[in-house]
Amino acid sequence: MANLLVVNSSLSGANGNSNKLTQSFVEAWQAKQQGTVTQRDVNETNLPHLAGAEMGAWMTPADQRTEEQQALAAVSDELIAEVKEADAIVIGVPMYNFGIPSTFKAWIDRIARAGITFKYTETGPVGLLENKKVYVLAARGGMYAGTAKDSQTVYLKDVLAFLGLTDVEFVYAEGLAMGPEAAEKAFSAANEKIIELIG
Ligand SMILES: Cc1cc2nc3c(=O)[nH]c(=O)nc-3n(C[C@H](O)[C@H](O)[C@H](O)COP(=O)(O)O)c2cc1C
Repeated sequence: MANLLVVNSSLSGANGNSNKLTQSFVEAWQAKQQGTVTQRDVNETNLPHLAGAEMGAWMTPADQRTEEQQALAAVSDELIAEVKEADAIVIGVPMYNFGIPSTFKAWIDRIARAGITFKYTETGPVGLLENKKVYVLAARGGMYAGTAKDSQTVYLKDVLAFLGLTDVEFVYAEGLAMGPEAAEKAFSAANEKIIELIG
């Protein structure tokens, strides 16, 4: 049975455009196969910025951690377990100030852990997450896909590949702040693409 992990980060919660895209994805995915769906809304999870104490907890061998360090390490452990258990991951990602939401960055900072999801070797870094299909569903007020201003796509491709997630599909709903007609068009094109990708 396949396990789908859904990662949302819109500050608008269920009303977010990116959440609407992941919701469409889940419905299309469930229509095609039996499986479990795990929801991780990082807007609700309220992860703080990664700080030294938490990194320090990761670096401390599990059997030597203080109670506080155990609690700190458990945050990242839980998020990584969700990723490892997933066969496919769908990420709803709004564009905020040309980048990803800081809440989503806080999630990435928790799942990128040396020795667990990547390692350094003599020939460079190696990602340790394997055999997972990733779908990034991007919601944007303006139009950037395919242009030099779309640093969000470059960043996500790079960081996911660094962790071993190289099979990534991007779907864009752009121009969502450019009037209702443009938004409707963008949504229906994105939904068509989602259905095409799921097959
Ligand atoms: C704080 C904030 C910053 C934004 N910055 C950008 C931006 O840099 N470029 C852009 O195209 N749209 C920007 N937008 C518009 C959002 O990308 C658009 O509303 C999108 O639907 C957000 O996804 P969401 O509804 O899932 O939160 C911004 C919106 C907010 C709330």
